[in-house]
Amino acid sequence: MIDVEKARAETPGTENVLHFNNAGAALMPGEVVDALKDHIDLEAEIGGYEAAAQTIDADAHTYDAIAGLINCKTTEVAFVENATVGWSGAFYGLANTFKSGDRILTARAEYSSNYIAYLQIAERTGIKIDVIPDDETGALSPSALENMIDDRVKLISITHVPTNGGLINPAVAVGKIANALGVPYLLDACQSVGQMPIDVAEIGCDMLSATGRKYLRGPRGTGFLYASSQIMEKFDPPVLDNHAAKWTGRNTYEIRGDAKRFENWENYTAGKIALGVAVDYATSWGLDNIFARNLHLATLFRDRLSQIPGVTLRDLGTSPGAIVTFTVDGIEAPDITARMAKYKINITHSTLFSTRLDMEKRHLNTVVRASLHYYNTEQEIDRFIEKLTVEIA
Ligand SMILES: Cc1ncc(COP(=O)(O)O)c(C=O)c1O
Repeated sequence: MIDVEKARAETPGTENVLHFNNAGAALMPGEVVDALKDHIDLEAEIGGYEAAAQTIDADAHTYDAIAGLINCKTTEVAFVENATVGWSGAFYGLANTFKSGDRILTARAEYSSNYIAYLQIAERTGIKIDVIPDDETGALSPSALENMIDDRVKLISITHVPTNGGLINPAVAVGKIANALGVPYLLDACQSVGQMPIDVAEIGCDMLSATGRKYLRGPRGTGFLYASSQIMEKFDPPVLDNHAAKWTGRNTYEIRGDAKRFENWENYTAGKIALGVAVDYATSWGLDNIFARNLHLATLFRDRLSQIPGVTLRDLGTSPGAIVTFTVDGIEAPDITARMAKYKINITHSTLFSTRLDMEKRHLNTVVRASLHYYNTEQEIDRFIEKLTVEIA
């Protein structure tokens, strides 16, 4: 169980704001902030390279911590500056093996940046992008996916939890299909890592991208990519530098054997160390406990919202997670965000431009997005409901 009082005492920001923007950037625990500041101080005091040399163990620990969090080998983890960089390393690397007529399969709630990358590669290579149909709840349908597979499918690439809602796509069922047919599987877990337990062995994905600042409660400018040892044998990273590869002779180079082949030499050491602290912090609560509390809060919140006249809940799937989306009759979502900000209540909104296929299908332009995390409270939900009711009356 989560000791909410303790979690809040360890989160300085909870004294200032009601933070329901955890899928934007969660409030960092004090010890993550300290780790970040301490390293920057050390860099200022003795020099950046020298600080890095003194903190080699903490740096290395971050890879171990991430590997423990998602159940992979340390050598299968790359630290990068955000989820997009991690995802792009995997996608654009694999894309170098695509030929005209190949197919990639994705889902309706796919994130815009990923879909733009598919479009760019389709333009360059002539591959076909096929969207897996939804089931009746709006989640990706595994049986529909099974029917779409043929030998031209070169990648299944989906978002686990979309940017615009609580939907949790059936990542494990997709993995079973991908593995049975030997199709590479890339999972965008940007919104799910830290919100719920994630086990890459159970999911069966070959590559997974995540960010530090959202549900992991790490610093901005941090993220990671998981790439399995087997998939790394199948393609090269799209970009190589002298950290990802070694210049072995005048006309030769050798790509390193581990997932650091997706990194650059220069990196955000303070952020990397602090991300390791954030992962340890999440692990110390237990991801099962975090997820159970997230579901409890989100269920309560949806229940309360559903009782307000003019509010329509917008989350898809049978059992949505901690990202709660809704619309309000006659008021655009950005306006709701601004009205709540007056009370130091942090939320945001998601637009058509983030998840076009899904939003178009549902005839939505914008949705209000309130994303909760385990350190939020029932009292905060009460306060939110009270203020929203006043604002839209
Ligand atoms: C589903 C999804 N994927 C990827 C990203 C991109 O993450 P980052 O900003 O860390 O690159 C986001 C960001 O909101 C997202 O919601």
